[in-house]
Amino acid sequence: MANKDDKLMEKVQTLARNRGFVYPDSEIYGGMANTWDLGPLGVELKNNLKQLWWKFFVQSHDNMVGVDSAIIMNPRVWEASGHVGEFGDVLVDCKKCQNRFRADHIIEEVIQIDVEGKTSKEISEILTKNKVKCPSCGATDFTEPRQFNLLFKTHVGVIEDDKSAAYLRGETAQGMFTNFKNIVATSRKRVPFGIAQIGKAFRNEITPGNYIFRTREFEIAEFEYFIHPGDWEKPFEFWLANMHEFADIIGLPKNKLHDHDIPKEKLAHYSKRTVDIEFDFPFGQKELWGIAYRQDYDLSRHIEYSKEDLSYTDPMTSEKYVPHVIEPTFGVERTMLAILCSAYSEDMVGDESRTVLRLPMTLAPFKFAVLPLSKKPELEGNAKEVWTLLSKLGNTDYDETQSIGKRYRRQDEIGTPYCITVDFETLEDNAVTIRDRDTMKQTRVKINELEKHLTDLL
Ligand code: GAP
Repeated sequence: MANKDDKLMEKVQTLARNRGFVYPDSEIYGGMANTWDLGPLGVELKNNLKQLWWKFFVQSHDNMVGVDSAIIMNPRVWEASGHVGEFGDVLVDCKKCQNRFRADHIIEEVIQIDVEGKTSKEISEILTKNKVKCPSCGATDFTEPRQFNLLFKTHVGVIEDDKSAAYLRGETAQGMFTNFKNIVATSRKRVPFGIAQIGKAFRNEITPGNYIFRTREFEIAEFEYFIHPGDWEKPFEFWLANMHEFADIIGLPKNKLHDHDIPKEKLAHYSKRTVDIEFDFPFGQKELWGIAYRQDYDLSRHIEYSKEDLSYTDPMTSEKYVPHVIEPTFGVERTMLAILCSAYSEDMVGDESRTVLRLPMTLAPFKFAVLPLSKKPELEGNAKEVWTLLSKLGNTDYDETQSIGKRYRRQDEIGTPYCITVDFETLEDNAVTIRDRDTMKQTRVKINELEKHLTDLL
């Protein structure tokens, strides 16, 4: 099961920090616990990932469309979705050391019992009966378990009272349901079709951690695929297979991915089938993505709470029904972590070790780096000309300081697939050297053939 590799996590974090992928948030003020900012290369990686996701799941299907809905929606949305009532964890405090824990976590850790779906009273009985010890001080005296809601509450406007209370969205999905009617009316899409969104979500997690795996602010890429109630199995399998294809495209090894079909007794009450796609992170096998058949739960709840008719009438058969939905969901930062862990590698060049981020070309922050062999002005003209040419093909770095060996190593570490070296021979033969990140093979190519050569590689 768990494939623990603490060193890998440490190495990935060090590289990400030193090379500008991920920084601790608000560092000049001592940081903000479990909160991270993306640096210049992290932004590029994340944007590439989101664009690839959008192209793969949205633009490659003629029955998929997008939305970009608000983060602070009408609070009734979250009452209808069940988030206000049920979106939370059960907490207990140790009476001796005052530490606070998620009850399901300590029970699972200490006595390996899964308490999903159990009431607070049942959880309390399990703690007492099994004499579960506090992970911090070993005492067995906990407070009564109580529900803690994960939604971040805020106030809209100048008066802070119950009437002005609102929530930061806990998922992007609800924006797809609240716009279902608009999209049917304006987009000419017919069931089956899907609505996708990528954006920030906020959860007041009790136990954030494992770097960017679980944070309180993160991005979700997900879509709601609306179907006729009778037709769920084929599209479920179709999208599950597509999720695996996407994992392959972004370089996640097949042997590190595991489909976990949630057993019937543990399914959320609205779900008929949920599969978690788990990944072997360095700290264990954990949920990476999920796909759920949510039936008509969300649309029906919004019909009940909004009193709007959100049913759909088939234009061919005139059948009127509330569509059911299949929801594939992806955490963006969690996926970035899986990508970084999969791409990180070390190999030996002679008797020196080098670190290489073997990112797929589509994800690499820089596709190319132009490296003039020396800072001498004679080379600058050609080097800048090559940079201008290449930057039209893909994001291109320009670096002229330090030895060429060190500059190659730096580009290897940030995953740049091709380095283009401009040297003194270039002045004679109008050619440059292309070095391949993975094979380190060098090829001499004329500048006027460079565009065609690199376009073929892209
Ligand atoms: N609409 C369904 C939904 O939101 P979820 O499993 O609660 O499902 C979706 O969240 C995805 O977001 C997860 O599969 C995971 O990849 C990611 N995710 C969930 N909580 C997260 C957190 N606290 N930090 C980072 N990513 C998280």
